[in-house]
Amino acid sequence: MLRRLLDLFRGKPVLISGASKLQEGMGKVVDLGDPLAGGRQVVLCRVEGKVYALDAACPHDGGRLIGGPLIDGKYAVCPLHNYHFDPKTGAPVRGVCSKAKTYSVAEANDTVEVRV
Ligand code: FES
Repeated sequence: MLRRLLDLFRGKPVLISGASKLQEGMGKVVDLGDPLAGGRQVVLCRVEGKVYALDAACPHDGGRLIGGPLIDGKYAVCPLHNYHFDPKTGAPVRGVCSKAKTYSVAEANDTVEVRV
């Protein structure tokens, strides 16, 4: 009961294995559930050794953030208008728009737990 109540505030945990394969300065798009049934895509980014999760939906104009090498080894990019986002905060660092949505992440034993 208490766990369900806490999940309402913190989000439901989703476990993603293989976290150690995500190299420094890289991003990886991960599907969390079926998009037609309320699932979403996140971009896992490893910056300064830590994993961060951004919603793949770009807050600018309907584009999608992509995986692959991060700009300057630390910023996720939306290729539609080439805006860059800081995975730590979701803040745009190139371009003017609202922040990208971020999710709480915990990493342990080659597994990432994302709270959505
Ligand atoms: S829609 Fe993503 S930068 Fe414009």
